[in-house]
Amino acid sequence: MDKKIKILGISGSLRKESFHTKLLKAAMGMQFEDAEVGMADISQLPLYNQDWEANLPASVKELKDKITMSDAILFVTPEYNYSVSGVLKNAIDWASRPYGKSAWSGKPVAIMSGSVGMLGGSRAQYHLRQMMIFLDMHPLNKPEVMVPMIQDKFDESGNLTDEATRAKVKEMIEALVVWTKKLK
Ligand SMILES: Cc1cc2nc3c(=O)[nH]c(=O)nc-3n(C[C@H](O)[C@H](O)[C@H](O)COP(=O)(O)O)c2cc1C
Repeated sequence: MDKKIKILGISGSLRKESFHTKLLKAAMGMQFEDAEVGMADISQLPLYNQDWEANLPASVKELKDKITMSDAILFVTPEYNYSVSGVLKNAIDWASRPYGKSAWSGKPVAIMSGSVGMLGGSRAQYHLRQMMIFLDMHPLNKPEVMVPMIQDKFDESGNLTDEATRAKVKEMIEALVVWTKKLK
């Protein structure tokens, strides 16, 4: 049997009750025949500082190693002021450095976003897609997962109970697996 495709999930919110982290955890809890979804902790990363590039902080090295060992990436981002959250951008910037030694290069990637409003974080998602160009990542085009009114999709224990959203998340992971195999 083939080795499972390792997908590394990164949530763009550090909030304990973050809806986006719950969305990522829902993906982690789903069963896939040939894939497993994990999660990187970006809460311990310092603010990006180029002075530290020659001797990367341990938390940055750890993140870069996790990315390198993964077959694909899954970003789950909220929208902050029409873009991605600062903590996610910080993680992206750290792992892209030093110049020429980015951990992101060539990685297949899928993006989920959400918001407590009607547009599902779409504006943040398009900013993130723009970043994928310079990072030389390979974003999955479809399905698009943009979850509007994300606060209504979970039960009190934080489980993703909205069936339509569950189906979309599952469809996205399955499509990411196909995409990843195609690129190998
Ligand atoms: C600094 C900040 C900026 C925000 N900007 C937007 C925005 O531009 N568009 C939007 O739909 N929601 C915006 N929101 C609301 C978020 O969608 C909401 O806080 C969401 O719950 C954040 O995700 P989380 O639950 O994973 O932390 C903003 C929230 C914060 C804290």
